[in-house]
Amino acid sequence: MNILLLGSGGREHALAWKIAQSSRVDKLFIAPGNAGTAGVGVNVNIKADDFEALGEFALENDVRMVVVGPEDPLVKGIYDYFKGNTKLSGITVIGPSAYGAQMEGSKDFAKQFMMRHNIPTARYLSVNSKNLDEGKAFLKSLKAPYVLKADGLAAGKGVLILDTLDEAYCELDEMLGGKFGASSATVVIEEFLSGIECSVFVLTDGKDYVILPEAKDYKRIGEGDKGLNTGGMGSISPVSFVTDEFMSKIETRIIKPTIDGLYSEQIDYKGFVFFGLINVGGEPYVIEYNARMGDPETESVMLRLKNDIVELFEAVANGTLSEQRIEKDSRYAVTVMLVSGGYPEAYEKGKVITGVGNVKESVVFHAGTALKDGSTVTSGGRVIAVSSYGATKDEALAKSFDAARTIDFEGKYFRRDIGFDLK
Ligand code: AMP
Ligand code: GLY
Repeated sequence: MNILLLGSGGREHALAWKIAQSSRVDKLFIAPGNAGTAGVGVNVNIKADDFEALGEFALENDVRMVVVGPEDPLVKGIYDYFKGNTKLSGITVIGPSAYGAQMEGSKDFAKQFMMRHNIPTARYLSVNSKNLDEGKAFLKSLKAPYVLKADGLAAGKGVLILDTLDEAYCELDEMLGGKFGASSATVVIEEFLSGIECSVFVLTDGKDYVILPEAKDYKRIGEGDKGLNTGGMGSISPVSFVTDEFMSKIETRIIKPTIDGLYSEQIDYKGFVFFGLINVGGEPYVIEYNARMGDPETESVMLRLKNDIVELFEAVANGTLSEQRIEKDSRYAVTVMLVSGGYPEAYEKGKVITGVGNVKESVVFHAGTALKDGSTVTSGGRVIAVSSYGATKDEALAKSFDAARTIDFEGKYFRRDIGFDLK
């Protein structure tokens, strides 16, 4: 079978690496891909949200399955586009319908869904220009810090955590005034939850689900989890505090009610659900849903997933996921992200990357890289993810840090504390 994977980050290189190992694949195409995906499949120069061009390409190249990496095409309706076109409707799309992708695309939608299904999450109020006074009164009733979330997608920047009530009032006005364009025309105000976060992933056929290895993402730019938020500076799997007991709470209180809720509401959802969770004193709460895999979690999760991923995708398409069992590698997997100097603020691109060929004990996943005049150069903030196995966490960490030192480019930075337990 020919498969088309959409996206161009480290997550997509990791998915491409895993898909390429499947016995079910003939040709793997990646649109648009990066310098790394070119090594495991064929890059196609089409944007992940150019549905028309993707559809034509799929027909011309006998693509039978489209796997969607990022959220944007999902929220814009790629699933519905293929399903609604007679020539394309036989092609499997791994990802939810646009309506289902609202679980990520609208924080208000996700909150209302959680309320309907009694899924534990922070108390909240959704505010727009019509109930601003109510919003301010709700803020006043909460304790600092204050959490404000743009309802819609805002390139990972739409969540603000403010220390004082005055700052929160001020930001609320700015957000409703268009700080994030139409995405913040509605703002979700949330109670702040204090705890440690983890990411749990399931694959669902809309009725049943399988739970993939969990992971922890290290989101801040600085060591000790300080400084600006990034797309993610590294990840680890398994996560020390996700014990069998904690996972069983997550499954009973969060995963099952979510999938049952999607099913009972007849929401067309055949793809990944990413549960962004927080452990508050031993109890799991949902911070957010995403309609896709996480990045850089995928780079660790794919190392630990032993199943043939395309067989899982086929079970999603056929509605037979209940027959599948997830097999996990018992080793640790650790991912360290190498980023451009200055990231997540302004940074330079086009720096030549060296040393990748000298890495022997890690898997090198490309994120923001491109091929230029025969060299691999930087083309984004997050440049390369190095992922390693280890019988112990320390062994996996040592290999990833070693690889992070071996690969070089001007301005390279990485966090030396990935993998450590942070509160
Ligand atoms: P989100 O985009 O919803 O995942 O939010 C981004 C980050 O903000 C999360 O990963 C958390 O670190 C933080 N955050 C979001 N909501 C809350 C909350 N209610 N309490 C504490 N931290 C939060
Ligand atoms: N690593 C967090 C995300 O992918 O949203």
